[in-house]
Amino acid sequence: MPAARDVADFDARATGYEAGWLGRLHREIADRTARLALAADPAPRRLLDVGCGTGYLLRTLAGRCPDAEELVGIDPAPSMVEVATRSAADQRLRFSRGVAEQLPYPDATFDLIVSTTSFDHWSDQLAGLRECRRVLQPHGTLILVNQFSLWLTPTLVGSRRGKSRTKRRGTRLLRAAGFDRVAWSALHAVIINAVTAASGGGHTPILAVDPRPSRGDGRPAT
Ligand SMILES: C[S@@+](CC[C@H](N)C(=O)[O-])C[C@H]1O[C@@H](n2cnc3c(N)ncnc32)[C@H](O)[C@@H]1O
Repeated sequence: MPAARDVADFDARATGYEAGWLGRLHREIADRTARLALAADPAPRRLLDVGCGTGYLLRTLAGRCPDAEELVGIDPAPSMVEVATRSAADQRLRFSRGVAEQLPYPDATFDLIVSTTSFDHWSDQLAGLRECRRVLQPHGTLILVNQFSLWLTPTLVGSRRGKSRTKRRGTRLLRAAGFDRVAWSALHAVIINAVTAASGGGHTPILAVDPRPSRGDGRPAT
């Protein structure tokens, strides 16, 4: 189970979550994640967002995936689920309460799983990744976006002790959870990075694209 404090904080923030500079930041991260997800799998049919918050990323993906059958979001904060449900105009979107560590879906249900800035709050990150692996179809793709940076190493002896907050730890945990193809992409500034992971021993390497918008001079924005 996640730390109750983390979930209570998100629950209290749900109504204004997409507003202000922080809301803009989360939407920017979600937009870039959508770009990355669709580069890895251009036509997913069944999608899951773990720690979906207000559902902005799934709404975005619904608009870009006309052939998707179902887009499912899960989050332990009741108000996040309420706001996500209220904001969903597309019949294919469904939101419910739950945690990464115990996903309430049968094995091999989804072909694409996304998760943005939620992983840091999972109380058992390995259990959550194992669950993602379990509910992912063979050759399905997981896009995990989180704070992953060597700059965060000092926090690993403080409040975030034991968390996977560097790429090295992230890769190790993904492999331990059964993912065998892992590729990293810069997503936002230096600290927010995305990892694309798949399983099933395929030979095709996952294409690592740069999801950041170009500044116009050919170099990506941060
Ligand atoms: C920073 S918010 C991100 C929300 C959304 N993904 C976004 O990018 O805007 C983190 C979310 O993770 C959820 N969360 C916390 N613990 C979780 C867990 N164990 N499993 C799944 N989600 C969790 C919180 O309730 C919160 O909505």
